[in-house]
Amino acid sequence: MFKFSDLLIPVIQAPMAGGINTPQLAAAVANAGGLGSFGFAYSSPEKIDADLKATTALLNAAHSKRVNANFFVFQEPEMPSIDVQNQALADLRTVLSKRPISVEIPKPPYIPNLKDMLEPIWIHRPDVLTFHFGLPEQEFIERAKELGIQVGITATCIDEALKIQATGADFIVVQGIEAGGHRGIFHPDQADEKLSVSELLKQLQAHVSIPMVAAGGIMNGRDIQGVLALGAVAAQMGTAFLVASESGASPAHRRYVLNEHGRGAQFTQAFSGRPAQGILNQYMMEMKNKTYLPFPIQNLLTASMRKWAGEQDDGEYQNLWAGTAYAKARAMSAQDLMKTLQAELISLKNHP
Ligand SMILES: Cc1cc2nc3c(=O)[nH]c(=O)nc-3n(C[C@H](O)[C@H](O)[C@H](O)COP(=O)(O)O)c2cc1C
Repeated sequence: MFKFSDLLIPVIQAPMAGGINTPQLAAAVANAGGLGSFGFAYSSPEKIDADLKATTALLNAAHSKRVNANFFVFQEPEMPSIDVQNQALADLRTVLSKRPISVEIPKPPYIPNLKDMLEPIWIHRPDVLTFHFGLPEQEFIERAKELGIQVGITATCIDEALKIQATGADFIVVQGIEAGGHRGIFHPDQADEKLSVSELLKQLQAHVSIPMVAAGGIMNGRDIQGVLALGAVAAQMGTAFLVASESGASPAHRRYVLNEHGRGAQFTQAFSGRPAQGILNQYMMEMKNKTYLPFPIQNLLTASMRKWAGEQDDGEYQNLWAGTAYAKARAMSAQDLMKTLQAELISLKNHP
């Protein structure tokens, strides 16, 4: 069974839903001695099956299951009143008035069926299965355990971490406020303590006994060493791998991460309905104080806009998820980034 101590380099390439994770990226990280991931939140069971097959074919035989498959724990959203729906639609149409994008209130189903999406996981049995946005049904955790798959769940505070530990999950993904992408907070409307990754690791040291994986703003060997010193077994890095040559990030997304350092990263709920952190763009600015629908209905509502912006290579109307430290991202192959991180860690060990 997979153990974090099996990793040659204590690095997890973060799951990043929305086409960023590719078999080439996950396999390059795993073959270099880390753990590659897929964010399968919006993928069909057929796509999940195909991605896992393609990754296995690229992996060294000895580590043919060295993959983390990640899913969102969707809650069925409640559609707000007609007045709120009309306001959200009107606000979005105003923001998009100068662009040829048509938007309509989405129809159900709003959320995918997690049970169906997990079917390929039980067949391929990757080493690791992780969940974001809360606790999955207990039967999924039990099934994974029977099959020897390690289960991890994201926490953003002590209370969530204790709930995760009580499920029998194998580890906690400790997500700091620096992290790019969706905040893993269980309920988007609950008060958010907004703790940094180091602060949360320090608090959790005394409260949890299962391994902790640190996520948020970790970009180089020194950052990795910092979270290991606070008790983490590995660092989960998203933004650092966004600009790897094997990543499926859009050209605009890469460009903004590498060049648009003055903008900074901010949280917004305007793309999906849940708080997520990305590089500040026109859409985020124009949607401040506007009405949006609950997650993931807002995500469906903005789908045509995001698709259009991707096709037009327009960075102002697509979600450019990135962590607060995105200016430290280095464009190179995932293999070279892994080698660089390893060299930095060795050098810090020899010359602390
Ligand atoms: C583009 C992008 C997409 C993300 N998608 C997911 C996801 O699908 N599932 C998940 O658990 N975390 C997701 N995250 C969050 C990462 O797991 C991790 O918490 C974050 O990348 C760590 O912060 P960093 O980006 O500063 O490295 C995403 C992050 C980014 C940047």
